[in-house]
Amino acid sequence: MEKTEVIELLSAEKIQQRVSEIGRQITADLAGTEQLLVVGVLKGAFMFTADLVRSIQIPCHIEFIRASSYGHSMQSSGNVALSGELDIENHDVLLVEDIIDTGLTIRRIAENFRKRNPASLRICTLLDKPSTRKYPVTIDYSGFSVPNRFIVGYGIDYAEQYRELPFIGTLP
Ligand code: IMP
Ligand code: MG
Repeated sequence: MEKTEVIELLSAEKIQQRVSEIGRQITADLAGTEQLLVVGVLKGAFMFTADLVRSIQIPCHIEFIRASSYGHSMQSSGNVALSGELDIENHDVLLVEDIIDTGLTIRRIAENFRKRNPASLRICTLLDKPSTRKYPVTIDYSGFSVPNRFIVGYGIDYAEQYRELPFIGTLP
């Protein structure tokens, strides 16, 4: 498949700086936590999760869950399928997402998690598209607000392409 050119929105350096800041903030807010359960949402948040845990100075367990709603389209299907068995009861959980758009995906995951009695649950997203929110969510940590454009790079794909880019951009 031929790749169209990606227009850079956030440089690799800018992303790294912001990820470090969020890591420091989480470290400060959760000081005293013996162990944090970091749960990355696959696949989009794999790179962000990997960088973020390197900036969190609290012992972490790292897990991933899979939530797919887009398939190969640019529009969310509205259905969120969760896969991955996790024991979160009595754990301090940090959910790590790539983008919160309508809010549906993260709401479904958070609802599912809350039923399983975590000690605490916090939501961290690298990118937030506030203008397209349909399902309100309380976001504890957000990297950047982005406009309503289709985003790729730094873990985020279009039809499985562009995940490997170290920067974030938009497709024309
Ligand atoms: P939501 O359920 O509408 O909030 O959509 C969130 C999910 O859709 C995220 O986990 C992303 O994987 C995906 N998504 C939302 N916006 C984009 C985008 O601009 N590019 C790629 N994936 C996106
Ligand atoms: Mg996703």
